Amino acid sequence: MRHIGSSLVDPYSAVAGAAAALYGPLHGGANEAVLRMLEEIGSTEKVSQFLEEVKQRKRKLFGFGHRIYKNYDPRAKIVRNIAYEVFEVCGNEPLIDVAIELEKKALTDEYFVKRKLYPNVDFYSGLIYKAMGFPTDMFPVLFAIPRIAGWLAHWKESLEDKESKIWRPRQAYTGPPVRSYIPMESRENDKDTTFNVAHQFSKRSLVATYDGKDAEKNQSKL
Ligand SMILES: CC(C)(COP(=O)(O)OP(=O)(O)OC[C@H]1O[C@@H](n2cnc3c(N)ncnc32)[C@H](O)[C@@H]1OP(=O)(O)O)[C@@H](O)C(=O)NCCC(=O)NCCS
Repeated sequence: MRHIGSSLVDPYSAVAGAAAALYGPLHGGANEAVLRMLEEIGSTEKVSQFLEEVKQRKRKLFGFGHRIYKNYDPRAKIVRNIAYEVFEVCGNEPLIDVAIELEKKALTDEYFVKRKLYPNVDFYSGLIYKAMGFPTDMFPVLFAIPRIAGWLAHWKESLEDKESKIWRPRQAYTGPPVRSYIPMESRENDKDTTFNVAHQFSKRSLVATYDGKDAEKNQSKL
């Protein structure tokens, strides 16, 4: 929000950009990714097998790890307790057992201990949203709504700061200085000139291929 706001766009555009950044599964979209992961694991007996796949780098344990917190995310403990309070009102969400088993096993496993990987705030929040009856696609939206108050406060603060300048991320290019290439007209195989980045989480691709039928069928394309 502050980064985008520093170019002096209107606050609606800055919020839209910030929300777009938030919804990535490594960030605020993790709550949704956690729920899909728990649903896929399905039962506590399958937790060990899943963690083996994580350790073999075939999978990622969503809801674990944080770019800044290299210890137990203090918010995760609070959210976990609130989950039980919500279940009392809305009914138990059985996937909580899978989440607790995952946490227990991961916290005593050398792979996660060595890398200082602990549950983050997204690990339990998805279960709360699910118990409350929200559709899984809406989880990052629910996460974004309360954050917008803070984003706007930061936006206002940075605009009022007389020293504030446009933010420019800096990259140091360390690749080869000159590279040869085949001119377009000399390229024989078109396939060599196209690239296709597989992005399993893209909701845009889902929307693009939406066939107007049931949501479940479209979900399976992800
Ligand atoms: C949040 C996250 C992006 C932070 O990344 P980071 O600080 O750059 O950490 P790194 O990617 O450098 O990870 C350090 C090591 O732990 C591993 N690791 C980090 N998070 C992991 C996870 N969730 N599952 C499995 N392995 C993980 C990395 O593979 C790496 O292992 P290596 O040193 O053997 O290569 C990352 O922990 C992650 O992807 N978590 C899952 C998504 C999530 O829950 N996001 C919400 C954050 S609030």
